[in-house]
Amino acid sequence: MHFQWYPGHMTKAKRMMQENIKLIDLVIELVDARIPISSRNPDIDELGKNKARLVLLNKADLAEDKWNDAWAEYFKAKGYSVVKVNSKKGGGIKSIQGVIREACKEKIERDRKRGILNRPVRAMVVGIPNVGKSTFINALAGKACAKTGNKPGVTKGKQWIRLNKQVELLDTPGILWPKFEDQAVGLRLAFIGSMKDEILNTEELAAELIKFLGTYYPDVLPEKYAVEPDEDPYVVLHQIAKNRNCVVRGNELNTEKAAMLLLDDFRNGRLGRLTLEYPEGVC
Ligand code: G4P
Repeated sequence: MHFQWYPGHMTKAKRMMQENIKLIDLVIELVDARIPISSRNPDIDELGKNKARLVLLNKADLAEDKWNDAWAEYFKAKGYSVVKVNSKKGGGIKSIQGVIREACKEKIERDRKRGILNRPVRAMVVGIPNVGKSTFINALAGKACAKTGNKPGVTKGKQWIRLNKQVELLDTPGILWPKFEDQAVGLRLAFIGSMKDEILNTEELAAELIKFLGTYYPDVLPEKYAVEPDEDPYVVLHQIAKNRNCVVRGNELNTEKAAMLLLDDFRNGRLGRLTLEYPEGVC
């Protein structure tokens, strides 16, 4: 899915966040484990200040686990609670309710001192488009969860999903924009398929991915497509087209088809678990 942001969308998204954030105790922020910084919203810390914070490294199944652990440490050192999650298959989901309680324990203690004993903690899920917010909410809530609010005769209000007696989740996630004006960020978002491919055409994007893989994961392309490494990414793309029989009329190689194949294989984890940015050097 591609998402096009205009200033109007951004203002509206921010306004909705500002309204909803008043109602909650905890912000559950989803980032893509392959690009945990590039998939964050630039304003999230400002929007979420004074709230308990939980960062989920989602799609952890697509990223290298040693880097997932390094990123978890990185966010923990900044004071966030962190969980590695595979929302699609349910990995990490079981621990979430406990982590939410733990992240909100100061608030629960404050309530207790004031004699408020049974108020559930309220949370909302936020993140950029395609990061996995709906998949995560479904995985966490399951089918058995009762929705609260919007009872007959009651003014239409927010819908809350009651996870248990102690935790409620706002059923609509907050959608926020990424830092796409930064070229390097835009490129990484395009690699994972969260940005319209129009910043670069498909072949240019594939060439950039080939360059990245040549530097950080030099064995991946030779193993997957039986290609020889080459300084020129377009030479490698030609080899992929040849070895995968991407041809048009006659016997002409179709490098655009090869580029799509490569990007698709990468995005779906068929090149293995790959991380595109690393905590060192990230401020
Ligand atoms: P959003 O609400 O934040 O916009 O994201 P959404 O849940 O729609 O998820 C976007 C895509 O990411 C979906 O794939 C979803 O299956 C996939 N996804 C979400 N979480 C994970 C995860 O932890 N691991 C992996 N591997 N994929 C995840 P899709 O291509 O749109 O649909 P489909 O492939 O599920 O049919």
